[in-house]
Amino acid sequence: MNELDLTFVDKTVEKIGTGPENVLAILQAIQEHFGYLPTEILERVCSMTEITPASIVGVSTFYNQFRHRPAGRHIIHVCLGTACHVKGGDQIYDAFRRHLDISGDEDTDSEKLFTVEKIACLGCCTLAPAVKIGEVTYGHLTPETIPTVLNDFLRYEEAKASHPAKKHKLQIEKADACGELRIGLGSCCVSRGSGKLHEALQQTLTETGIRAAVKRVGCVGMCYQTPLLEVVLPDNRSFLYAKVQPEDARAIVLKHFKPKQITRKIRNT
Ligand code: FES
Ligand code: FES
Repeated sequence: MNELDLTFVDKTVEKIGTGPENVLAILQAIQEHFGYLPTEILERVCSMTEITPASIVGVSTFYNQFRHRPAGRHIIHVCLGTACHVKGGDQIYDAFRRHLDISGDEDTDSEKLFTVEKIACLGCCTLAPAVKIGEVTYGHLTPETIPTVLNDFLRYEEAKASHPAKKHKLQIEKADACGELRIGLGSCCVSRGSGKLHEALQQTLTETGIRAAVKRVGCVGMCYQTPLLEVVLPDNRSFLYAKVQPEDARAIVLKHFKPKQITRKIRNT
């Protein structure tokens, strides 16, 4: 990632267009590429398009998806939705900041490794208090577990970087499956109840008619965070959930897949 890569603006504007109506799409592309909206880049946008500085300020301050300062390599989204708030989400947020030595108006640690942000709801309220770091969702957290969570996440990222193809390649064994549920059945996962989670997943799939494939996987090096559940979609997007309890299975499955009955009902209307 290069903050001064002005050619990115040139390519983006060429692709999206120069009209003032394209301000949101262009800002989203910049945010995704740089992780924030660098001033030099925005100036370039104004010089190349009909978009005005006032329009950029208006749009970029209206939507909270935009950052105006650099972020750390990984964003920690701490959920402060109702369920997580009730179960101590604020203490989790404070614990991350304390552990990463972030104070005052800052939201990023001095090594620029982590940025801590609040989010409204991660959509998996049964895991409350929940946090999402990168593609991993951690549930049932306490302030004491934060150092372990961060270490586990970094180990997971390291492992992912050394086996990228293995991690992301979706090989759905059932031809008509709509995705894959990978459940850790290594010794730590099993001793912490992944067998029961496996049963709960199978039951949810039977009750909802969702045709996701359930696949058993070995240890992924996050033994402290077990039981682990990974949801992989046909487009290879993957979502990893840590410390999942059998009673969380249904909510997680329904977050990613539509029950068969609902799909049929929508088709018939
Ligand atoms: S309120 Fe936190 S996941 Fe929904
Ligand atoms: S045994 Fe499941 S992550 Fe290690």
